Amino acid sequence: MANNAFGIDLGTNNIKIYNRNEDHILVEKNMIAIENKNTLFAYGDSAFEMYEKAPGNIHISYPLSNGVIADIKNMETLVKYFISDLQKGSPKPAEFLIAVPTDVTEVEKRAFYDLIRDANVKARKIMVVEKAVADGLGLEIDVKNSQGVLVVNVGYDTTEISILSLGGIVLSRLIKVGGAKFDDAIRTAVRKEFSLVIGGKTAEAVKIALNELEAENRGAVVYGRDIVTGLPVEREIPGNLVHASLEEHFDTIVDNVKVILERTPPELAADIYRHGIYLTGGASQTGHLAERIAQGTGLRVNISENPITSVALGLAKIIKEDNYRSVAYAIEGMSK
Ligand SMILES: Nc1ncnc2c1ncn2[C@@H]1O[C@H](COP(=O)(O)OP(=O)(O)OP(=O)(O)O)[C@@H](O)[C@H]1O
Ligand SMILES: [Mg+2]
Repeated sequence: MANNAFGIDLGTNNIKIYNRNEDHILVEKNMIAIENKNTLFAYGDSAFEMYEKAPGNIHISYPLSNGVIADIKNMETLVKYFISDLQKGSPKPAEFLIAVPTDVTEVEKRAFYDLIRDANVKARKIMVVEKAVADGLGLEIDVKNSQGVLVVNVGYDTTEISILSLGGIVLSRLIKVGGAKFDDAIRTAVRKEFSLVIGGKTAEAVKIALNELEAENRGAVVYGRDIVTGLPVEREIPGNLVHASLEEHFDTIVDNVKVILERTPPELAADIYRHGIYLTGGASQTGHLAERIAQGTGLRVNISENPITSVALGLAKIIKEDNYRSVAYAIEGMSK
């Protein structure tokens, strides 16, 4: 029987794993909970459940930071467990395709390859693909034949802005703005305006609810701790305060998209103008971001139907359709 194949998008917040045998994408929090410094306590969504609530002897962390692997050992453990779960506990030889960011060092890129090689997942073959190329495929763009595609992926720690042409990357910039910064901005604003301390999960829930709250013309009801009395309280936070707190980060994204556009070779501009910008990544759904990018650049913005899984959907295409195989590559000199 042919080997199974997995396509992995290691996000800072969510790990997405496409499994060819099941033709399904697993999405789990890229988080690990370690008890007493060395015992695995929980991983994925169940580790995230405990985050901000666990006792001192349980350390919960994200092994990725700003889109690159910060904690190799824990990242290997997570990959090993997720893959083993997908294989129902009995690891069989498989092929792996892993998406990597472009605007990082060669060492950081290679670390993704090494991770799969060293994670004890019986990798028979490891291929790499640039994240933005996979994103383009996942967004149903004819990446190989287009001469100029602008993809903006707003993730958790980072936003990756890339220009693709003929199946490759022409320009790419990874900036340190994403959903986590949006959450922090909301927390800071609530603290300043309402003297209220809220948790990260609460801030994230407010961010995610923004569109709905605006449609229903109401504020966000949050629970937190009053700084003055120290007691838990409930408050309603007006939507416009939340929006105002995000402006600065939206501006940073728009400014960086403009910088990339300014550097784009003019021959590619026609396709970009015709297609508009492709916007994806979980945090791209944040209220008013898409319209700010459209206003700021004068370009149409195409909104992803699968913002969290667009990279993984692209990996699935590469795995399933031979026609796309050429966008993936092996890292020289690293094969076993
Ligand atoms: N409906 C929503 N509205 C706004 N933000 C959302 C929504 N759903 C998810 N998010 C945010 O999307 C982010 C996660 O997105 P994603 O999975 O694309 O990131 P990632 O790939 O893990 O991170 P990175 O690409 O930076 O490594 C989180 O910050 C989350 O709060
Ligand atoms: Mg991502």
